[in-house]
Amino acid sequence: MYEKGVSKEKAFNPDESPMFVGGDNRATVELDPDHPGFRDKAYRERRNAIAQIAVDYKPGQPIPNVDYLPEEHDVWRIVREKLRPEHEKHACTEYLKYADKLELPEDRIPQLNEVSEKIYPLTGFRLEPVAGLVSPRGFLEVLKDRVFLATQYIRHYSVPLYTPEPDIVHEVIGHSCQLASPIFADINRVIGKAVARTKTQQGMDALSRIFWFTIEFGVVMEDGEPKAYGAGLLSSAGELDYFATQAELVPIDFHRMATQEYDVTQYQPILFYADSFDHLQRTMYDFFNNWHDDYWAQN
Ligand SMILES: [Fe+2]
Repeated sequence: MYEKGVSKEKAFNPDESPMFVGGDNRATVELDPDHPGFRDKAYRERRNAIAQIAVDYKPGQPIPNVDYLPEEHDVWRIVREKLRPEHEKHACTEYLKYADKLELPEDRIPQLNEVSEKIYPLTGFRLEPVAGLVSPRGFLEVLKDRVFLATQYIRHYSVPLYTPEPDIVHEVIGHSCQLASPIFADINRVIGKAVARTKTQQGMDALSRIFWFTIEFGVVMEDGEPKAYGAGLLSSAGELDYFATQAELVPIDFHRMATQEYDVTQYQPILFYADSFDHLQRTMYDFFNNWHDDYWAQN
């Protein structure tokens, strides 16, 4: 388990949903007692209001803006400053190239709608707001339609480098920059198609883990140097530092990924790397295009 106040970003657990919608269609976000915002009444009310935007959202509409507070914009600025040198050292070339094209602001949280409008002309992907965590199938299957479900709230200002759940920092700096790349966007789409063909729970569990070890925490070699392309790595300075100094890097192996346990409360100790960007593309397309429920019986 993580220690309270430790400056790390915990990844999300897709099996835990902290949001409820009552009979009156009002969204209520439940925070754990050890959540940094648990005792902050104003933060909790804003989380409910932001969750309501997602509950009321109809696909195709512009995503309504959120009035972030000055201290929340400060969180964004602090995280951006912390990540900039880490990205220069550890991000893969493809990520850096397309992150640049989004021209994300340095000193304020971008609105989801403005980010979505920048991604769309590049790759056809658009963002849709979600109130909180959704099931692995609900989250992954819509990728086939070039839709990425994104949370809109930001972590609590008291611990800017830590979040126990995916927030707009993770969605934008991690996933949106990745989805601005035509190659990564198409790999996300192919994963969504593989999920749509998957009927068994065993198959879904395997694909969820593989998504975790690739799109969230994947590594690719560039000129003999390991570089991050996973959204979970690229949105957390703590994860990037751990990746560069302590994580065990092993060659990409989908079978092992599919059965490899992971702990969302810790930095990831095992990361899988592709030999090159070309190798990454070939293996991902080959695996996901050929994926089917009987994969395990035949491999
Ligand atoms: Fe993510």
